[in-house]
Amino acid sequence: MTEKQDLRETCKVLYSTSEEQNRVTVKQGAEAVVFRTSIFPGEPCLLKCRPAKHWRHPILDQRLTRRRCLAEARLLAKCQTLGLKCPLLYFVDPKRGEIYMEWIEGCSVRDYIRSIESSEEYEVLLRRLMNNIGKEVANLHKNDIIHGDLTTSNMMLRNKNQDDIVFIDFGLGTVIESEEDKAVDLYVLERALASTHPNSEQLFSLTLESYSKSWKASKSVLRRFEDVRMRGRKRSMVG
Ligand SMILES: Nc1ncnc2c1ncn2[C@@H]1O[C@H](COP(=O)(O)OP(=O)(O)OP(=O)(O)O)[C@@H](O)[C@H]1O
Ligand SMILES: [Mg+2]
Repeated sequence: MTEKQDLRETCKVLYSTSEEQNRVTVKQGAEAVVFRTSIFPGEPCLLKCRPAKHWRHPILDQRLTRRRCLAEARLLAKCQTLGLKCPLLYFVDPKRGEIYMEWIEGCSVRDYIRSIESSEEYEVLLRRLMNNIGKEVANLHKNDIIHGDLTTSNMMLRNKNQDDIVFIDFGLGTVIESEEDKAVDLYVLERALASTHPNSEQLFSLTLESYSKSWKASKSVLRRFEDVRMRGRKRSMVG
């Protein structure tokens, strides 16, 4: 048996064992169902499934599921090689639309912001968090990684530590050297903050400041971001 076949067999064993493990539903979304389970003994992991959509044509459905699943797994693997912050990819089964990845103990940035709202240190903590977000998004963009859905729910804090941001949910992500795509990534984050957090303008300006400080070549992206913003405003005025 070659090394590759051997690895495949091992994965199959782990995979079938994990099916018998308890799965705890973390989130049932429109697109994906996310479980906490285990693939390595004693080690929790996250299983993200994209179940079949019976209202879609089966061939089209399979193709879409496969594509999204592979896109997400590829990006996780790419970020890992680049040393960027995301969960470790353990195993992917594109046919079934399933990805097993590292379980991140902690909370989403969204929940974190809510949890510190009544804290006396709110301002200080928040400034530091927004600063960190800007730095980490710049790190993604420096490496031409476009997240595609930069919301505060798609950023986690490992062990609730605001200095340890982990990006999740790369299903809409791409790798492309495009100022426009990076600018749109920033715009999505700005809109997401505006829809979920009070005082979002101030918050986001801190993120932009640190984005620009962390990456010398960010100026052209930030210029493009102003255009995207203008287009967004025009569109919302037209309705
Ligand atoms: N690696 C992880 N470790 C711990 N919790 C996670 C992890 N990945 C996701 N989660 C939790 O599960 C939730 C849903 O995950 P995710 O954002 O990947 O799915 P989704 O938003 O339903 O997917 P999609 O946008 O692709 O439909 C997250 O908000 C987070 O709370
Ligand atoms: Mg998500």
